[in-house]
Amino acid sequence: MPIKSNMVVSNQSGVHKDLESGIEKYLVNPFRKPYRPFSKGIFHKANQVINNLNLPIILDSGCGTGESSHILSKKNTDIIIVGIDKSEKRLDKFIERDNFYHKDNLILMRADVIDIWRMIKQSKWTIKKHYILYPNPWPKKNQLKRRWHGHPIFPEMIGLCDQIELRTNWQIYAEEFKQALEIITQKKTSLDSIKVKYFMSPFEKKYSNSRQKLYRVVSSD
Ligand SMILES: C[S@@+](CC[C@H](N)C(=O)[O-])C[C@H]1O[C@@H](n2cnc3c(N)ncnc32)[C@H](O)[C@@H]1O
Repeated sequence: MPIKSNMVVSNQSGVHKDLESGIEKYLVNPFRKPYRPFSKGIFHKANQVINNLNLPIILDSGCGTGESSHILSKKNTDIIIVGIDKSEKRLDKFIERDNFYHKDNLILMRADVIDIWRMIKQSKWTIKKHYILYPNPWPKKNQLKRRWHGHPIFPEMIGLCDQIELRTNWQIYAEEFKQALEIITQKKTSLDSIKVKYFMSPFEKKYSNSRQKLYRVVSSD
């Protein structure tokens, strides 16, 4: 991973004009794509651990290398941290086989959150907080549907828990995410620019070291 990174460049100058209409459509027509058998197997393993430990959960979706999940697990020893990333490579440091890792209060899965979020919702896990740290920005105007708040899965994702924290280096992503969250929850959401002293994830470190502005959107309980 490069140590320095360039700022996000986009042909969008503000919140996408189709954001609101997209969310209204997804609220009426929920996302129903069938689960892949592969996802079911991995989720089953996680679900067994969760049921045995019977503790609240923090989700770290798109956790990359798993470092942020590891940091969270050390800071919150009475909570299970579940990190999920679909990348073939990124979780290699932790996962040796079967696309799954469990030690103490840390679970890591190599899986697609689009399946896993819906399975979590059906299993009624007690999610205390959901982190989405530095998702891929997909900054071109025609890529709105690839951003989490532009994807039909968004209402399901928001339904997982009340406390959501998104961090991004692209202000428009933060503004769109905030607006989308407020449409669904009907509650005020905060957006601020943050200065980070202790980096939570490799991308946070990379962007900070490149002197980029970082933004945080936090839902209200
Ligand atoms: C820009 S990286 C950020 C990684 C990490 N959160 C960090 O801050 O260092 C975005 C991550 O999201 C993951 N991702 C994107 N779409 C995903 C999906 N549908 N399911 C699981 N992971 C996904 C990618 O594989 C990638 O590792």
